[in-house]
Amino acid sequence: MIADWINVADAEREGEAKLEQGPRDYFAGGAGDELTLRENVAAWGHWRLRPRVLQDVREVSTATEVLGKPAEMPVLVAPVAYQRMAHAEAESGMAAGAAAAGTVMCLSTLSTTRPAEVAAAAPGGRHWFQLYSFKDSGVTRALMDEAIDAGFEAVVVTADAPPGGNRERDRRNGFTLPKELGTPSLTAATGGEEALTIEQTFALMNHALTWRDVESLASECTVPVFVKGLLTAEDAVLALDHGAAGVVVSNHGGRQLDRSLATADALPEIAEALGGRATLLVDGGIRRGIDVATALALGADAVLVGRPALWGLAAGGREGVTAVLELLREELELTLGLCGCTSPAELSAAHVQRAPITSVYSV
Ligand SMILES: Cc1cc2nc3c(=O)[nH]c(=O)nc-3n(C[C@H](O)[C@H](O)[C@H](O)COP(=O)(O)O)c2cc1C
Repeated sequence: MIADWINVADAEREGEAKLEQGPRDYFAGGAGDELTLRENVAAWGHWRLRPRVLQDVREVSTATEVLGKPAEMPVLVAPVAYQRMAHAEAESGMAAGAAAAGTVMCLSTLSTTRPAEVAAAAPGGRHWFQLYSFKDSGVTRALMDEAIDAGFEAVVVTADAPPGGNRERDRRNGFTLPKELGTPSLTAATGGEEALTIEQTFALMNHALTWRDVESLASECTVPVFVKGLLTAEDAVLALDHGAAGVVVSNHGGRQLDRSLATADALPEIAEALGGRATLLVDGGIRRGIDVATALALGADAVLVGRPALWGLAAGGREGVTAVLELLREELELTLGLCGCTSPAELSAAHVQRAPITSVYSV
């Protein structure tokens, strides 16, 4: 029961228990040996906090600004495909849950709900749109325009897919999307009538995307453009050079290139290279408020959570989503106070250091 959740792992247990094996493994799984999937979580734990004491922490707030607008916490909801497979409330429930927690929800291109419906389900909520690029540029444009027309305030271009990663759990399960599950905006944009399979969808995507495409997108787009799915300082600098308003340090939750860097390990060099010139976000393995605090101390402006929000949705619809986000917010608030900070902005590099042994992960 939601009321009994003490941490995100409780939501994970309950959410996963509600799902059949195929969908459960689709949501939980990663690529290859799932080393990056596990290391994403473990790598946050290889930082230690350097708390400052006696700082007067009567009034601690997790409130922050993302893209110049307020959010109750520096924890956003990451784009996750096919949410109707987790709960009947689908992306509408996710959006409503995020709005109730006072934060931003990023909708996947592979949404089972159209952007206008998502926006209507969460009036006053903040929404961003994750964009996959399609071979037919008219399809890409139609998807983006539909979201912007529905009031979505940023476009997040995913750079680490296609191609799709080697998801061995799905292959072993012979996993296919349920017949009734559709991606209505994509179907409308491609002019088809039948729902597309995952393989058909990836085949339609643009595998030739380059920085030049990011630049033309950013120059034409009426809202800020982020690049999501990079892990190096080199690529972060290129993203800014090509017009991005910010980047999301991400390895797609370990679902794409197994043995790519854990995001906690990639973040410091990217923060240093950007030097505060753009919005810096990170996702992957965030399960605790302490992980959020570590990411902020390492230079992120905010984090995103993928699976935690999804477990909340699977377990309890919009209320489950809000509960998971609130757990993270409360843990962050406590961590801030115990570190001698009264706001997320007060966390700095002086609040973290590498744990004594950093080379061996027990994953
Ligand atoms: C089931 C699932 C589906 C996802 N679908 C998308 C997607 O459609 N587009 C995208 O950019 N990222 C997608 N992601 C990646 C997330 O946006 C995010 O990078 C990742 O989940 C963060 O890791 P975490 O789950 O450990 O928080 C997906 C992740 C999961 C788990």
